[in-house]
Amino acid sequence: MTNQDIIDLNTRYLCNTYARFPVAFVRGEGCRLWDAEGKEYLDLFASLAVMNLGQCHPAVVRAVQDQVSTLTHISNLHHTVPQARLAELLCNHSFGDKVFFCNSGAEANEASIKLARKYGVDKRDGRYEILTVLGSFHGRTMATIAATGQEKVRQGFGPVLDGFRYVAYDDLEAMEAAVSDKTVAILVEPILGEGGVVVPRPGYLKGLRDICDRHDLLLIADEVQVGIGRTGTLFAYEHAGIEPDIMPLAKALGGGIPVGAMVARADIAESLNLGTHGSTFGGNAVACAAGVAVIDTLLNGGVLENCQKMGAYFLTRLQDLQAKFSCITEVRGQGLILGAALDRDGADIVNACLDQGLLINCAAGTVLRFIPPLIITQAEIDQGVAILENVLAQQ
Ligand SMILES: Cc1ncc(COP(=O)(O)O)c(C=O)c1O
Repeated sequence: MTNQDIIDLNTRYLCNTYARFPVAFVRGEGCRLWDAEGKEYLDLFASLAVMNLGQCHPAVVRAVQDQVSTLTHISNLHHTVPQARLAELLCNHSFGDKVFFCNSGAEANEASIKLARKYGVDKRDGRYEILTVLGSFHGRTMATIAATGQEKVRQGFGPVLDGFRYVAYDDLEAMEAAVSDKTVAILVEPILGEGGVVVPRPGYLKGLRDICDRHDLLLIADEVQVGIGRTGTLFAYEHAGIEPDIMPLAKALGGGIPVGAMVARADIAESLNLGTHGSTFGGNAVACAAGVAVIDTLLNGGVLENCQKMGAYFLTRLQDLQAKFSCITEVRGQGLILGAALDRDGADIVNACLDQGLLINCAAGTVLRFIPPLIITQAEIDQGVAILENVLAQQ
């Protein structure tokens, strides 16, 4: 099949919910992808911050193959080894004591929202309101579009779930002023991903922690995009020297196999008691075995160190481009979530890069986003920057 054959089939049979690029991939290895006609691409997108170990990482492939041929799926009415192992790893390497497994970032946020509300009923006199920030993104389910600080995701889906209010990002005074006698939690991304790779000022997360402590609120850090090594530490909150109370995870957790998780402190997690939440596939054995391989490789395979080193290098290369091209107004990011803000829409640049075999995307319309696999090499970054430079020179 050609690229076009595959695109035609998809167009015929799939709901038209995604603005897709005109390419169909059939194979991947590390930071390389090949389309249906054999053209090679350099991947600085990691399938939307999912493939942190790159395509077909041997540790993930081995874990999945072993697990799928031993025990594929067991319902949550019984116990399995991979679920226990992944939960133990997540708790041993984070603030958390308890994990609820699901299948996606939206579901991990749903679980967090349900937990915050139930905790409000159990321990905070029925408080239910969750403060989130403008420009945030938390998913596409009914609760998570209500939590998301972008009006466009709610349009056409009313009435929207009540109990969320939106506050300016990186504004501690506004957050403090927004706390009401109904507020139970603050939900925030440590770096806005879909919102355009917006890094708050140092001290923002610590300031949110202080507000939560002063008003007895829960701090929920949505690490769906920036967790699992993306910023150079296993979790992004570690940079701020604070601990959240609840943390939704997904994306890179399963190395490309769908798995989400909500991590929480034990005294809070106890509110999600028997029969209050569930998911048929949550914690699937193959997905959790993949997750164990991912966390193990991140921690013991030098991947976090590579992310820090390559992130710093990539940032300097983007700063060089900024000095050359006035259309780049700012470069920013942490580890290997980097953005180049433009004075224009970025779609033409992204499309031209694709033509030249480079995969990037654009967040919030005008920010070129670079979220490559964390195993990327300096030579691959140089190759990507050379293509981008070529494209920018032709704009
Ligand atoms: C911060 C954040 N939270 C939640 C989500 C939703 O994740 P999913 O698409 O797996 O439901 C995303 C997806 O981009 C995200 O970036």
